[in-house]
Amino acid sequence: VAVQPSDRRIPTPPPADAAALPPEVAAADLRAIEESLARFQARHASRIGAAARHLLDAGGKRLRPLLTCTVARALGHDPRPQVDLVAAVELVHAGSLLHDDVIDGAELRRGRRSVHAAFDAHTAILAGDFLFSWAFDRLARDGSRTLQIALGDAIRELCEGEVLERERRFDDAADLTHVRLVNRLKTAGLFAYAAEAGALLAGVDGAVRAAARAYGLALGEAFQTVDDLLDWEGDDATLGKPHGRDLAEGLVTVPVALGVRREPALRDAVRRMWRAGGDGGAADASEVRGILERVGAFAAARQLAEDDAARAGAALAGLPAGPWRERLSEAARRAVARDR
Ligand code: IPE
Ligand code: IPE
Ligand code: MG
Ligand code: MG
Repeated sequence: VAVQPSDRRIPTPPPADAAALPPEVAAADLRAIEESLARFQARHASRIGAAARHLLDAGGKRLRPLLTCTVARALGHDPRPQVDLVAAVELVHAGSLLHDDVIDGAELRRGRRSVHAAFDAHTAILAGDFLFSWAFDRLARDGSRTLQIALGDAIRELCEGEVLERERRFDDAADLTHVRLVNRLKTAGLFAYAAEAGALLAGVDGAVRAAARAYGLALGEAFQTVDDLLDWEGDDATLGKPHGRDLAEGLVTVPVALGVRREPALRDAVRRMWRAGGDGGAADASEVRGILERVGAFAAARQLAEDDAARAGAALAGLPAGPWRERLSEAARRAVARDR
């Protein structure tokens, strides 16, 4: 059985250049993170290892481990000697993407065929579990019990968020409160862990650890709000993943939830779209988009992401001032301005 499926006709993957963090930060720490991920990859030659590598090799922004590094640096700590611990969050993120693409039926990720499409669903699911287990192996070997507990909490939240989102598919009564809860659980919790891990690696606890967590959580909320927006406004080649699927798959996300608040009749248009399905739904889909534009739902979603980013910036008051804290502040702004 071939373990390296061919990837012909696949768009070029986005470069791993840490678009959401300033380039100076990216250089040294990103290199260490990539080396750490390569060490993981070298240890697995089986089909399951090949499936994990298929995603890890495709790049990605590496935003979560970069956040850990930057928080550690803001606290005066060089994270590179502990980079295997730092990179564990990227293994978890990768595992969650393998599972998420099975759940969402998404065939493209990081500019490549997603693992379930290139291999098969059971390999993707098990490779996700495999990545989670290696992440905990790394934390356990370094004896960091606090990090293990925090990462376990984040993964359980992520699972809850994914299931909660699924539970309300094709439910036009799913509102902004529901969507925000889903986004906090499925995405922001891992960002909160990533930032918190930077404090813990620096040997800092208490109020500073809490401030780092609050920063990561708010940043993650901004990030997922923008992910919801990019599903409407982005393009596949830049994103490296399919856009325009959320509502068609029955998922009410931030722009739609905000749109319904402004124009209750949007719910009827959404119901019509879901009832029509397939090609018959194209006219209804453009009606939904038209209403979203007319009531300013996209602008409101962007404003919400900006408010989240501002909360992230405010939480940084709990960290020592300096250039690294400035970079964290810049990362929050970039999470909103990003196009991939
Ligand atoms: C994708 O995360 C999943 C979400 C939480 C929206 P990223 O946008 O960080 O994906 P990569 O790691 O850069 O591929
Ligand atoms: C993001 O889920 C959170 C996880 C991957 C767990 P989405 O389904 O919103 O993310 P994309 O858009 O596929 O990256
Ligand atoms: Mg998805
Ligand atoms: Mg999903």
